[in-house]
Amino acid sequence: MDTSTSEIISLVPKKKLCGVIAVPPDKSISHRSIMCASLARGESSVYNFLQGEDCLSTVECFKNLGVDIKLNNGEVYINSQGLKQFNGVLNVNNSGTSMRILTGILASQNIISQIDGDSSIQKRPLKRVTDPLKLMGAKFEFLNADGFCPVKIYGTKLNGIKYEMPVVSAQVKSAILFAGLCAKSKSEITEISKTRDHTERMLKLFGASIKVKENKITVEPSSLRPQNLTIPNDISSAAFFIAAALITKDSLLKIENVGVNPTRSAVVDIFRRMGGDIKIENYIDGFEPSCALIVKSSKLKAVEISGEEVAKAIDELPIIAAVATQCEGTTVIKNAEELKIKESNRIDTVFNELSKCGADITKTNDGFIICGKTKIKPCTFFSYNDHRIAMTCSILSLIAEGDCALQNYKCVNVSYPGFFDTLKCIGEKI
Ligand code: S3P
Repeated sequence: MDTSTSEIISLVPKKKLCGVIAVPPDKSISHRSIMCASLARGESSVYNFLQGEDCLSTVECFKNLGVDIKLNNGEVYINSQGLKQFNGVLNVNNSGTSMRILTGILASQNIISQIDGDSSIQKRPLKRVTDPLKLMGAKFEFLNADGFCPVKIYGTKLNGIKYEMPVVSAQVKSAILFAGLCAKSKSEITEISKTRDHTERMLKLFGASIKVKENKITVEPSSLRPQNLTIPNDISSAAFFIAAALITKDSLLKIENVGVNPTRSAVVDIFRRMGGDIKIENYIDGFEPSCALIVKSSKLKAVEISGEEVAKAIDELPIIAAVATQCEGTTVIKNAEELKIKESNRIDTVFNELSKCGADITKTNDGFIICGKTKIKPCTFFSYNDHRIAMTCSILSLIAEGDCALQNYKCVNVSYPGFFDTLKCIGEKI
């Protein structure tokens, strides 16, 4: 496998995948650890932090906001005396999570700031965050296009809010929760579908007064206290290798220390419903639960994915769609319109790349219909500079009838530095 500086990588099929691997730390939790530690005055330490491009963008933003942050491999030492005015532009690069949650944090600080990012970020909607924040009294100025980055934030003391979320988004929920921490009165947020609850767990750990009752979250104005914490590995990254082991004959793979927060682990339920042989070992009930996953190649069948499950597997839908090409029958994925506003329009990009390699896939307004099982034809995939599309195509190429290639493959560094090394080194022998 060529991992040189060229922007194209060749991908060779593999007979079977066996061995023990660990995927990188969780991206969502890594972002939030820096955010909470930066708001907590004093010294915090974070272990097993994801050094992917997105999380490093969050680190850079908070360093610019005056927080002392030192990175040493996967360990981060944060010493905060509160956020300070920064007169430059806070660059979130490709990171939607940084853009949206940071907007909530900065709206409630007594400073003026500006956020921008790359060309993909400038097309991703920010109004879903600024609209509720405006109801709390926040002030924004969109500098180019209404509702998109670059945005100027005039931080001020906000009022609490009672808000029923019109969108299913953990980033929106988190932006309001962080803003609510520094507001004048309590805030109450209700979700239509429960989304990942990492912010709620992390705020609780850092001492915030926050209560969760089913889909309703209440946060009181609170100051955070510094903490030391260890992050589990990312189930969204593990999903690629779970998929790889399921679809590659005679495979047996152990993936260690995977975060299995119930608001994130629907991908395991979906793969099991497809007939996937996935076992859990060494379950640890920490502030974020984790375990080892043992995955065997399996005979797979089609399933339907819709409703609440979609929010809990939103980032895994591209790889789930890829696995559906290897399921007997017709898999239907619906209610997944949110896919259109990810790092790429994933309804289009998944459809394009799966069609290209011979899948029988139809795109709908809110998902896909995929008929299996189909052979995977050798082809050159495009990543659209979207890390999850790049990794989805790479996993499918393991079972292709010949060598494939992938253009613009380096985008995997957003969430999974070392992805191609793991793919290359993963053993074929037990
Ligand atoms: C994330 C929430 C999800 C997810 C993204 C990470 C988070 O986005 O797709 O990769 O860390 O809060 P939405 O909030 O837009 O659904």
